Amino acid sequence: MGVTETDKKYVANTYARADVVFLRGKGATLTDRWGNKYIDFGAGIAVNGLGIGYGKWKRAVKAQLKALPHASNLYYTQPCAELAKLLCKRTGMKKVFFSNSGAEANECAIKTARKYSFDKYGENRFKIVTLINSFHGRTVTTLSATGQEAFHQYFMPFTDGFTYVPADDYEAMEEAVDDGVCAVMLELVQGEGGVKALDKEYVKKVETLCRKKDVLLIVDEVQTGNGRTGSLYAFMQYDITPDIVTTAKGLGNGLPIGATMFGAKCENTLTPGTHGSTFGGNPVVCAGAIAVIRSINEKLLSGVNAKSRRIRDVLAACPKAKSVSGLGLMIGIEVDNAQEMKEQCLNKGLVVLTAKDKLRLLPPLNISDGELEEGLEILREVLS
Ligand SMILES: Cc1ncc(COP(=O)(O)O)c(C=O)c1O
Repeated sequence: MGVTETDKKYVANTYARADVVFLRGKGATLTDRWGNKYIDFGAGIAVNGLGIGYGKWKRAVKAQLKALPHASNLYYTQPCAELAKLLCKRTGMKKVFFSNSGAEANECAIKTARKYSFDKYGENRFKIVTLINSFHGRTVTTLSATGQEAFHQYFMPFTDGFTYVPADDYEAMEEAVDDGVCAVMLELVQGEGGVKALDKEYVKKVETLCRKKDVLLIVDEVQTGNGRTGSLYAFMQYDITPDIVTTAKGLGNGLPIGATMFGAKCENTLTPGTHGSTFGGNPVVCAGAIAVIRSINEKLLSGVNAKSRRIRDVLAACPKAKSVSGLGLMIGIEVDNAQEMKEQCLNKGLVVLTAKDKLRLLPPLNISDGELEEGLEILREVLS
């Protein structure tokens, strides 16, 4: 039995996989089992942010794998402590909880917001306001947090206590944040929901509202984080100070990690026994993530913005690209048939993604000029 047949027979049928078996990759180039090469404008859905097999990451991971692959959270390990310190120094946040995925990072944020409120105000102040078209994960609670009806099917009963309001509608937000609300949770650029950046003035007003009502502001940077939008975290471009920032994906550059970062207000909300994770803070994953965060410097970020401009310039001259949205190297393209175009790109040797009815580009942040131009040439053909 071949790989595809074995997968179809034995792997749970939850993904509509494209008919490609990837064997290896380097930087922004993937190779399939027939030796065909593909330029990667998807980065494993924003995970391979520094490209496949990034040198500094690989060396750190290998060294830690040799020294100590796992010890458990009953003991201290250096990479976990070091990564938490690095994230706090670079973001101004105060403490970090490590897990294994974006959904878990958000689950932790939700638990923290509810406990913060419970400790201070008692019961019945547990609601969390999220945005329509948001995406926050696949656990029962993070599906509840996700403001899309399509995700509220089959698995009832969902976790209670979520309210959804339209993005960029301040009045709706103000009305929703009543005395029963403990947190507001936002993606600053909605990823799965269609690559839509929130309005800066709106976000600033929401921050002020949260401060006034002692409601925690949670920013979900699972997709926008780790340099993707042209700053280390997107909140830095919005001139806000969130109470909780969650991230995952690109922080691990290929290994599973989730991080929930707490600001001063809630840095001590979680206490021994109130939360935990067997694999969270794993030394190998954390050693790799340290290399990732250290590599996200001014030079890399200005490269992200330059590459973003280059992609937008090319798209501006493509007749089938009706509009372009997003921030940095998180780019949405409005087209007539995103699914069909994605397949055309793949057949020509370019990996792209979709988000709702848009094409979505999430290339590695350090993609070489050669790989970028090669990919853009294919995109130009498909969109002309
Ligand atoms: C904004 C956002 N939050 C949460 C998640 C869930 O992350 P994970 O699949 O790692 O659980 C995603 C995944 O696409 C995401 O884009």
